Amino acid sequence: MSIFAVDMKKIANIEFEDIPLLLAPMEGVTDPPFRHACKEQGADIVYSEFISSDGLIRDAVKSVRKLGFVEGERPFGVQIFGNNVEPMVEAARYAERYNPDIIDINFGCPVKKVASKGAGSGILNNIPKMIEITAAVVKAVKTPVTVKTRLGYDSEHKEIVDIAERLQDVGIQALTIHGRLRTTKWGEPADWTLIGEVKNNPRMTIPIIGNGDVVDGPSAKHFLDNYGVDGLMIGRATYGNPWIFREVKHYLKTGELLPPPDVCERVRVSKAHLVDSLNYKKDEFYAVMEMRKHWGLYFKGFVNFKQFKLRLMEAKSIEEVSSILEEVEKYYN
Ligand SMILES: Cc1cc2nc3c(=O)[nH]c(=O)nc-3n(C[C@H](O)[C@H](O)[C@H](O)COP(=O)(O)O)c2cc1C
Repeated sequence: MSIFAVDMKKIANIEFEDIPLLLAPMEGVTDPPFRHACKEQGADIVYSEFISSDGLIRDAVKSVRKLGFVEGERPFGVQIFGNNVEPMVEAARYAERYNPDIIDINFGCPVKKVASKGAGSGILNNIPKMIEITAAVVKAVKTPVTVKTRLGYDSEHKEIVDIAERLQDVGIQALTIHGRLRTTKWGEPADWTLIGEVKNNPRMTIPIIGNGDVVDGPSAKHFLDNYGVDGLMIGRATYGNPWIFREVKHYLKTGELLPPPDVCERVRVSKAHLVDSLNYKKDEFYAVMEMRKHWGLYFKGFVNFKQFKLRLMEAKSIEEVSSILEEVEKYYN
């Protein structure tokens, strides 16, 4: 049984009114406070950052902590990565105890320390092992298993059409394809042609989620119209912009662009993010530090924002940050 009954826009027993928009798992970005901000603006599925299978089975604090989520985040996917069957099976069982809605396997990470060990996108040069790991994980857990991967290892091996069939055959319930190869550089645009080929392969019955370079309503519509995927996953365009989910949904429904959020809304969301960070980090100083990477993004394009950013970067308490944010609101209103 597929977890999306494609025409009904469904994942497992969760129905979506419209084409689902997924927040991409992003290491160092998609912690619970960031996910909450995106969820509030309409993200239909959110994922953990990727979690090392070896870390999980060693009970490493950093890895275990990434499994945490709150009920309001559902549907929630845990993403694991690794290069061997046994640790991946054990990690999936470990993750299942936290009762996520999805266990996603990362076969797409190109970062050297991951890929050079044959995990993430490194496994794209060993397809039999990729299939073996996936089959074993699917068998080991009751939670629906999905995969996120790339088009292939390099330009000589754009094998995703075949890989997708084989992953489906061993029981994954949805496939996310990032339209890049392991070797593609970030500057190069994502190539959706093969994502479309996978989607239009009559052998494929599971939902195909497209990923790469969705930045706004028009780009989302372009990829949907041209490649017919069952869902869109959005990564970098969410930085400082959780509103992208609301904007894309509005555009897909009406063909109209929403005006960008005003300063009051930006202040409201960034304050909520700060409070969430405090609840998550349980330490005022670390929560304030964590927010430093978000200030410039939440107020990107605001003329003269530098003066406030400099002060926000030096602030050490929630009270200080809140009072600067109030000044920001007054200044731009
Ligand atoms: C900072 C950063 C961290 C990422 N971490 C992960 C990760 O943990 N797991 C994963 O599957 N992909 C990860 N990715 C890839 C994204 O999920 C996504 O596939 C990629 O950014 C392309 O989508 P976009 O063009 O919408 O950004 C990461 C990307 C970035 C920029």
